[in-house]
Amino acid sequence: MSTLELKIGEIIAEHRTKEGPLLPILHDVQHEFGCVDAEAEKIIAAGLNLSRAEVHGVVSFYHDFKPAADPRPVVQVCRAEACKARGIEAIIGDAEKAAGERVKIETVYCLGLCSAGPAARTGDDLHIRLDSQSITRLVEEA
Ligand code: FES
Repeated sequence: MSTLELKIGEIIAEHRTKEGPLLPILHDVQHEFGCVDAEAEKIIAAGLNLSRAEVHGVVSFYHDFKPAADPRPVVQVCRAEACKARGIEAIIGDAEKAAGERVKIETVYCLGLCSAGPAARTGDDLHIRLDSQSITRLVEEA
């Protein structure tokens, strides 16, 4: 049994008795390995007695689950309506320019900070009222 199978087996065992265990398992696998790849999907499907298609359908539906690990730091930038109204589209280019290939700019749709946008998230940190300078600095420090 591989290390991947062992660790995912532990995660499945931790959540198996919960109602709707698939999402918590996927979140834990994503957190542990940085992705939910095809091999992980296969192990989870077998562990929950689901088809691989059922697991893949959930994985591919949610943007939080990645099919492959990406070691770059991530800056999540909200491009939903309230942040658009507050100017995210005018400064997203500055973030992308500062990011280059080193930082991944990920679009999300609402961080729950609508009245204080434009908003972004890095890890567990939330950033509000971003402008050209602050979003550039945020990306550079990611
Ligand atoms: S619309 Fe951007 S935080 Fe809600």
